[in-house]
Amino acid sequence: MDEHYLEHLNETPEDSFLESLRVYGAELKVPLIQKDGLDFLILLLKLSRAKRVLEIGSAIGYAAIAIAKFTEASVVGIEIDDRLANIAQENCREIGLSERVQIIHDDALKVDPKTLGAFDAIFIDAAKSQYIHYFVQYADCLKTGGFFVSDNLLFRGHVEAPETIISRNRRQLVGKIKNYNTWLKENPGFYTRFYEVGDGIAVSVKL
Ligand SMILES: C[S@@+](CC[C@H](N)C(=O)[O-])C[C@H]1O[C@@H](n2cnc3c(N)ncnc32)[C@H](O)[C@@H]1O
Repeated sequence: MDEHYLEHLNETPEDSFLESLRVYGAELKVPLIQKDGLDFLILLLKLSRAKRVLEIGSAIGYAAIAIAKFTEASVVGIEIDDRLANIAQENCREIGLSERVQIIHDDALKVDPKTLGAFDAIFIDAAKSQYIHYFVQYADCLKTGGFFVSDNLLFRGHVEAPETIISRNRRQLVGKIKNYNTWLKENPGFYTRFYEVGDGIAVSVKL
């Protein structure tokens, strides 16, 4: 019996440019959204017909480029790291998507959200310890009915099984992720649901 029968049906032909970015991300040791997480995100953006998406933490532009390629949305990405922001911009130019993907090279916690305009969806994928701060800072940029997608809420399984963590820093980080998950669940301004897709994803719809 093929336990992953339905998952295999989802498999799409490889996109060579995105595959090359995935390989490059691994070489640079930059974590990128997992493939099934990206599929899920793209499905949500297509269903909602999102036109403008904000990505907090763009790294080399992998998810931003995939969103622009496979949905009708344009993307504003914020990336704090000099080298990665430059690579992301270069990748967008190379694939001819600079018009639809704008990479802001800055610390997302220092950008004034009022300068960015309104978004249909906001993808949070930067420093895991700061998720609450990104959420609060950018909540006013999200249209009513729009949604946040937060990635890495299982943090490679450590959140479900904290006994697997050896380092103190990691334990603290897992504590912060758990706090964020509870905070999301109890946030009355949003309808949040959690999914065991990719590295653990929450979708929070603005009420
Ligand atoms: C998991 S990677 C992003 C991967 C990307 N979303 C993708 O799937 O293609 C996280 C990125 O967030 C960036 N980052 C961390 N803190 C940030 C901040 N305060 N503002 C903007 N970017 C930040 C890191 O430099 C790193 O490149």
